[in-house]
Amino acid sequence: MKISIIGTGYVGLVSGTCLSEMGNDVTCIDIVEEKINNLNNGIIPIYENGLTELISKNKKNCRLHFSTEFDSIKDSDIVFCAVGTPPNEDGSADLKYVLSVASMFGKMIDKYTIFATKSTVPVGTAEMVRSAIETELNKRGLDIEFSVVSNPEFLKEGDAVNDFMNPDRVVIGSNDNRSTDIMLELYKDFDNVIVMDTPSAEMTKYASNSMLATRISFMNDISNLCELVGANVESVKLGMGSDSRIGNKFLNPGCGYGGSCFPKDVKALIKLGEQNGYEMKVIKSVESVNEYQKTTPYLKLKKELGDLKGKTIGILGLAFKPETDDMREAPSLVVIDLLLKDGCKVKVYDPIAMDECKRRIGDVVEYCNGIEDCMDETEATLLITEWKEFKKIKDIKYDGVIIYGRKI
Ligand code: UGA
Repeated sequence: MKISIIGTGYVGLVSGTCLSEMGNDVTCIDIVEEKINNLNNGIIPIYENGLTELISKNKKNCRLHFSTEFDSIKDSDIVFCAVGTPPNEDGSADLKYVLSVASMFGKMIDKYTIFATKSTVPVGTAEMVRSAIETELNKRGLDIEFSVVSNPEFLKEGDAVNDFMNPDRVVIGSNDNRSTDIMLELYKDFDNVIVMDTPSAEMTKYASNSMLATRISFMNDISNLCELVGANVESVKLGMGSDSRIGNKFLNPGCGYGGSCFPKDVKALIKLGEQNGYEMKVIKSVESVNEYQKTTPYLKLKKELGDLKGKTIGILGLAFKPETDDMREAPSLVVIDLLLKDGCKVKVYDPIAMDECKRRIGDVVEYCNGIEDCMDETEATLLITEWKEFKKIKDIKYDGVIIYGRKI
């Protein structure tokens, strides 16, 4: 099939590349010229296992193209929208990019085409997209058939290619048979394709991320209580997770969830509830537990060392999780901020997120060359991201205090 993907961020780039690997002719479009030039020169803007190889293979096969032009929309069977939906100040999702892609689609198509939303969008967005497209078609005086489909993405950073190629499920939200059949054809190689109406598909994405965030906040609460009553949360996790109704995934306590998805989607679900006169009580608590949890490495440190003024503290791990350089909503940022406010000198090290950290906070911390360098001459080391290479801190001779924000 001929496919255009608008928005070459995380979701767009991984989805486009994988769809080309599945044999489709894919054009990934972005308005940021530098990004597209880089991609055309083999420079990949994100760090993701296996992605570089797949991009180069499919570019060579002429199945994957990168462009700043929207022309490919005209002869596409499906146009995927994978632009960002950043939070507005009130936590709701900002749909201006999605709706501008919808208008562009309405300005360009001259035959039946599917508009498929991969961006995470609130329930009801498909209808807004439909009306934005119709407005443009009316302006052109055209009566062209089109379908709006919701096809949410469930990729995890760091394992996104594998998640796309071997998904637990593919969700297709569609309100007509023509688009359902085309989407089923696109995903014919996958086992668990679930077809539903568009509002349910849109809700499935928020409900899934919020459920995972709930498990994490629940376990963080249990873990905090375990520490107070002398129970071992790892044993508790094993005991609970062995119940097949509970399962053992996403039960790891730590210093709170970060990233571009859980924090944003939890906020958006709370807002969606408010907009509809319903209070999402569980999810509100999930968010407040998470805000507290991000401060726990700092609170534990204060308990150990008392006044922190003038002390030198090392931070191991800056990315919001291992195998990525992404620092969006990373607990490390909260901890660094608290330490600096208390007058500490902060040394940091991360296997790949050092440049990203410099870009975000500049030279307010000292950037180190490795684990030993980061721990050297510090009163304490806080382990914030569970990179595999940090396992070796247990073998390093160190006189300071080590606080494990995450288990390694
Ligand atoms: C998450 C979901 O896992 C994906 O299914 C979804 O597609 C994606 O959001 C999205 O909406 O685009 P991601 O944000 O990449 O993926 O990262 P996760 O691996 O889910 O981790 C999120 C956060 O939860 C991290 O800060 C991680 O450290 C934390 N976490 C995860 C825990 O604290 N405990 C756990 O047991 C698992």
